[in-house]
Amino acid sequence: MIDDLTLLTFESETAAAITGAASASALRDVEHAALGRDSRLVAARKQLGSLDPEQRRTVGKVLNDVRERLTAAVAARHDELARSERTAQLAAERLDLTEVPDSVVVGHAHVVTQTWELLEDIFVGLGFQVAEGPEVETDWHNFDALNIPADHPARDGFDTIYVNHGSPGSTLLRTHTSPVQIRAMLAQKPPIYVIAPGRVYRRDTADATHMPVFHQIEGLVIDRGISLADLAGTIEAFTEAYFGTGFSSRLRPNYFPFTEPSAEFDIQRPDGSWLELGGCGMVHPNVLRAGGVDPEEWSGFAFGFGIDRLALMKFGVDDLRELYANDVRLLTQF
Ligand code: PHE
Repeated sequence: MIDDLTLLTFESETAAAITGAASASALRDVEHAALGRDSRLVAARKQLGSLDPEQRRTVGKVLNDVRERLTAAVAARHDELARSERTAQLAAERLDLTEVPDSVVVGHAHVVTQTWELLEDIFVGLGFQVAEGPEVETDWHNFDALNIPADHPARDGFDTIYVNHGSPGSTLLRTHTSPVQIRAMLAQKPPIYVIAPGRVYRRDTADATHMPVFHQIEGLVIDRGISLADLAGTIEAFTEAYFGTGFSSRLRPNYFPFTEPSAEFDIQRPDGSWLELGGCGMVHPNVLRAGGVDPEEWSGFAFGFGIDRLALMKFGVDDLRELYANDVRLLTQF
């Protein structure tokens, strides 16, 4: 064992056995046989004493080197085996989350959210972009900039919920989505074609058709030469897209401080009956000015209507409160 040639053969054979070990336990066996207490290497080390000192040093060094190289080879093979075992384990335990088994009950968007998204899709299809504004608003955006000064009687009609922030009366929960008109004009130069769906708040007692928190969608168009005919055409195009053929719309004169002229718009069902949907009109010059838009150069129209009532209609529910009672027996039907 102690001569060079035998050592060399021993080393290369052991190295081959190490690389060939297919599992951690096979590797342990190879290691035990080649480097363990009863191994030939340890036996050879014991024979060193019979050699003369000069030889003992040389052969001792060779034995040490072989031992070190083989120990390193075992460690390397050990790492390799651990890595591939881990890869195999990961592959075996892999969960495919892209497939939902049929037995799992999948949830869905709330009926109001579904209606909101459908409205967005339709208006985006008509060329509008979706704008957003905060639900906690300043009284300037919600009222003053919309041509409703502090002493204006229209303020009473909004049953405003004020927030205890800043000077009294300066901060509120927006009572309609119309303040987004102002924010859109201040944020971008005309032409502007935006809709703004969102949550609004009023000091209202909940009943079948009212909730203190509800949803509106606002529309705003500012461009050169926009007229009432563009407004009527847009409402009509929306009516057909949302309700379907056989439905039509009409404008009825009304009053809003932020539009002039103003109108209420109604939808006529195929059976001839009418549904009051929302308010609209040509954007008042004071509102354009508040939004930094020159009324001499630009004109526009705005409209706004409730989303919740549309959701009720679409799904044939007759009490708004049902939609927010969170009774899954009702909600899972839609
Ligand atoms: N903001 C009005 C409301 O809440 C609706 C409206 C919007 C009317 C835009 C005219 C123009 O009743």
